Amino acid sequence: MTAQADAKEAGRWRRYAEAVDGLAEYWYPIMPSSGLRRRPVHRRLLGRDIVLVRHDGRAWALEDRCPHRGIPLSKGRCEFPGHLTCIYHGWTFDVRDGALKAALTDGPDSPVVGKVRVRSYPVEERAGMVFVWMGEGEPVPVEDDLPEDLLREDARVFVLMRDCPGNWRYASENGFDEAHNKMLHRSSPWVLFRRIPAWNVTEIVRSDDGEWIGRRQSAVNMSDDYPGLGKWPGFNFWQRRSRTVMASNDHAIAIRLPCLLRVRQPGRSRWTHYNWYMPVQRDTYRDVAVAVAWVSGWRRLLWWLRYRTYITVFHRYGFLRQDFAAIGMMPDSDPADSFRPDISIASWRELVETGARKPRTRAQAAE
Ligand code: FES
Repeated sequence: MTAQADAKEAGRWRRYAEAVDGLAEYWYPIMPSSGLRRRPVHRRLLGRDIVLVRHDGRAWALEDRCPHRGIPLSKGRCEFPGHLTCIYHGWTFDVRDGALKAALTDGPDSPVVGKVRVRSYPVEERAGMVFVWMGEGEPVPVEDDLPEDLLREDARVFVLMRDCPGNWRYASENGFDEAHNKMLHRSSPWVLFRRIPAWNVTEIVRSDDGEWIGRRQSAVNMSDDYPGLGKWPGFNFWQRRSRTVMASNDHAIAIRLPCLLRVRQPGRSRWTHYNWYMPVQRDTYRDVAVAVAWVSGWRRLLWWLRYRTYITVFHRYGFLRQDFAAIGMMPDSDPADSFRPDISIASWRELVETGARKPRTRAQAAE
């Protein structure tokens, strides 16, 4: 029996174990708005295939499977405005509600018309991204699943989405994991000029609105003596102490459901890294790395330059790739109590256990 099955049986992480394919009752950023036009686009999310199209300036999403013989609708085309036609026999669906409006190769009076429908998904667009509601229950307002500061008028947002090997829960845990930053990322050029401590004491705290859990760090030990081994780590003279570590009481690193990490960048850089770890399928997650700064006027150009050069090269394609490699190597495991820093992982699992949203009925939504 695997560790996951053990945990499920013990009941400690029951909902966490059941969420292996993702938490459904949430909005997820499925693709950048700029990539969606009239041509159908396929995306997989929570193990489901979805086709997206743009019509009348709005994004629409349907199940990507023709109910006739199962051909993906994303292989088809928009023969008529606002309608998606299957490439195989020409069944034609209204993109707004998934209703079958014609079966082209059976003539205009085809009796199947009006009797068939594909599932349509609620869609919203915010902060340059297309969000899809994956739940069975009534959708909450999309703003409920978005950090407020992403919606500010002066927010300048850059998004990079990549499919990576590994389960979404391990990717989320890696984001909030206390200790790996002090080991795995020590070799990253992103922290070339920072002193990363050896270890510290961590407490998990809730944000005032209850949405986030964050790490509060104390007793920060920049280096220490390990019995029988010696002092670790050593530092180079050009490295200075990381301000992420010093910013210990302000939720500098925090996570919320379903899978959204926030890392406020240290010092005067004044930008925040958000990361969704979206469930694509059981062994694949989509890393949605969002960089946001709140700038106006000429500072927008400076921010654009900084993101396209330094942040893209060293953070997006350097630092994060170390995480991708580690997550991709992780087997099914339950490390939550193995050593003290795992308090961050255990707390996140507890958040899933106690806080994951349940389907809302129409009556509940109307309250
Ligand atoms: Fe789509 Fe036949 S499979 S119309």
